Amino acid sequence: MSFTADRLLLFGATGDLAQRMLLPSLAALDADGLLAEDLTIIGTARSEMDDAAFRDFARGALEKFLPAERQSGIDSFLERLFYQALDATAMAGFADLAAKVGTPARGLAIFLSTAPSLFEPTIRGLQSAGLAGDNVRMCLEKPLGTDLASSCAINDAVAAAFPENRIFRIDHYLGKETVQNLLALRFANIMFEPLWNAAHIDHVQITVAETVGLEGRVAFYDDAGALRDMVQNHMLQLLALVAMEPPAHFDATAVRDEKVKVLRALRPVASGETVTGQYRAGAILGEAVPGYDEELGKASPTETFVAIKAHVDNWRWKGVPFYLRTGKRLPKRVTEIIIQFRAVPHSIFAQPDSKGNGAVMQPNRLVIGIQPEENITLSLMAKVPGLDREGIRLRQVPLDIALPDAFTGTVRRIAYERLLLDLVEGDQTLFVRRDEVEAQWEWVDAIRALWEAENLTPKTYTAGSWGPSAAIALAERDGVTWHE
Ligand code: BG6
Repeated sequence: MSFTADRLLLFGATGDLAQRMLLPSLAALDADGLLAEDLTIIGTARSEMDDAAFRDFARGALEKFLPAERQSGIDSFLERLFYQALDATAMAGFADLAAKVGTPARGLAIFLSTAPSLFEPTIRGLQSAGLAGDNVRMCLEKPLGTDLASSCAINDAVAAAFPENRIFRIDHYLGKETVQNLLALRFANIMFEPLWNAAHIDHVQITVAETVGLEGRVAFYDDAGALRDMVQNHMLQLLALVAMEPPAHFDATAVRDEKVKVLRALRPVASGETVTGQYRAGAILGEAVPGYDEELGKASPTETFVAIKAHVDNWRWKGVPFYLRTGKRLPKRVTEIIIQFRAVPHSIFAQPDSKGNGAVMQPNRLVIGIQPEENITLSLMAKVPGLDREGIRLRQVPLDIALPDAFTGTVRRIAYERLLLDLVEGDQTLFVRRDEVEAQWEWVDAIRALWEAENLTPKTYTAGSWGPSAAIALAERDGVTWHE
């Protein structure tokens, strides 16, 4: 299975993802000399156009979405591009597509970034045109279904033509540098792993906050909601990386075996362990923004915010809650993981008195910033300088590592650069395996069933706030404060 593809076929080549992420990522890889000399990229979509028009289209996207300092190689990159129009619902066009792709010298990688309703006909078309042979890999972009049943239907359709070891399911969070750094932090250092368990960790928080609202994705988002759009995939992947046992190797089987065990150990969420919200008009970074219902033009039961108290039922994590929250129109864009350690078992320092003298102890906390800042902060207790006539005083001080400073000179890459390169070269480690996706859906479906049974509707929150007050209460009930 190990070949470096010399053809890349992009379905949905005129879509938003292609313009914002895929074409810019490929161009950036090309500029850095990371694509094989002979790699050609064939775009396909419904619109009629020839190669030259597609190259113009791609140039427009690159000039808009590639950082200026990475635009120098655009001309030579465009020479790799070709285009074939295709209506994926009509089998007739696939023969022309196959002719355009030609016979790869080593192999073909296909990237499907289209509506899931087109997956099945596309796969049938590819099969009929001989584009599903042993030297073809299939990469799928989300959404892969809306629940376990629809996800299984998609997976079955793909499995009819491609074995699992040639299917690459994208979760673009796995392409993010700091997400992979979680593995380095945990498994390349001796000091964290002995403490990484219920005996020493009080709780974990995972926040994925966005300032954006609907962004024109009205129909898609209103059918999905925050739970399916963000928790089912990205947040559960982050949780799995935090909670998994050390894999024996950094390879696709070992890493994914460990992740899936965590996902299967997730306890079904109980009543009162979730809060949902929907934003109303407010202000983000000083700018007035409309409410979700106004953007949508009607009332809707879809959640734009969700907070969950999750539990991983295994020896390592017994009794350690994982607080997850994500939402649109929150005060700032931030993705971070907080590991809150327990307090020391016994303090040797004098307790604070009424005058504030003495030692206030705060348990250690590790904050892993994923975006926009890529940093790792470990808060430690330190002695406040002084002669301590009234007893020693302590203060929490941060041990701060800003990764861009630690690694100056390295390029900050788009998550898709890594994933596209792995796809072309055939490394599945950072792609999601079928059993993971299904375990994710199983847990998420049970939450939705609970909401339905309890007739739970989203509480409103003002755009620019941290979600409904009930989300704060969800953590505070346990004496936990969300990290902000
Ligand atoms: C996508 C969701 O998967 O991830 C979007 O569909 C969301 O709603 C996006 O905005 C967030 O990705 P990132 O990389 O900007 O955090």
